[in-house]
Amino acid sequence: MRFRNKVVMVTGGASGIGEACIRMFAAEGASVVVADLLDEEAGVLCRAIRDEGGKATFIHLDVSQEAQWSAAIYELREKLGRLDVLVNSAGISGFVHDRENTAYLDRIMAIHLRGCFLAIKHGAPAIARSGGGAIVTLSSIAAYEGFEGQHMGYNAAKAGVLAMTRCAAGEYARQGVRVNSVVPGLMTPMRTSVVSADPVMRARFFERVPINREGTAEEAAKAVLFLSSDEASYLTGADLVVDGGYTAYTY
Ligand SMILES: NC(=O)c1ccc[n+]([C@@H]2O[C@H](COP(=O)([O-])OP(=O)(O)OC[C@H]3O[C@@H](n4cnc5c(N)ncnc54)[C@H](O)[C@@H]3O)[C@@H](O)[C@H]2O)c1
Repeated sequence: MRFRNKVVMVTGGASGIGEACIRMFAAEGASVVVADLLDEEAGVLCRAIRDEGGKATFIHLDVSQEAQWSAAIYELREKLGRLDVLVNSAGISGFVHDRENTAYLDRIMAIHLRGCFLAIKHGAPAIARSGGGAIVTLSSIAAYEGFEGQHMGYNAAKAGVLAMTRCAAGEYARQGVRVNSVVPGLMTPMRTSVVSADPVMRARFFERVPINREGTAEEAAKAVLFLSSDEASYLTGADLVVDGGYTAYTY
């Protein structure tokens, strides 16, 4: 049990990669905190974990809202006393039909980039006060290259997530907080995926992936757990790419 007696908060924890992280951290002994907008899904998930003997709490959080971050960290400290690991997985898809939509650019920036900034700003000091720990951000291979059908704001935001992760790694290393990023390729579709949920588009993409299939949320979550654990004690500021070999070698 790698996370016994640890408190782990996962934004976007009610779905996809975040949900897989919540289930795996709970199975490894952590007291998990699901921070999401999806009250109903998060409630069901927390009850399922408690029914299996785990510890799970839900905090309603919009990652783009600073006042909600302050309130969430306060609530977490009141209820659980500490924070050891923060995973920032909340997000919306970049694959949309109207890729010149300026309002969507602002939404992407608010959720992915502002959300990452606020996660680090509010999470890192709370982890440092608890004696140190880890933050894991979720970037994307969209940080490295553009994709047909993807809003370029998503690429920019995910590149920004990597830049913030590296800066924060340096800023918080001496307070005992490691900050790393998991960089998924094309995985199980996001809730908000439209274009990338299209089977034709997916099949075309996976032909170019050496491991020749989509990645699962669990495969991304395993990388998150590794970076959050003491096994990664000398890793900070790193991008851990989980993409079936796509960025290494394209067919
Ligand atoms: N699925 C993929 O193929 C893929 C690939 C690369 C990167 N990613 C990144 O991984 C992360 C997780 O994606 P996923 O596949 O689990 O998607 P998902 O849609 O299954 O889950 C995203 C979660 O974030 C929550 N969320 C959205 N906006 C929020 C907000 N403002 N505040 C709080 N929570 C919010 C949603 O309610 C949802 O529970 C995202 O940052 C995404 O950009 C996903």
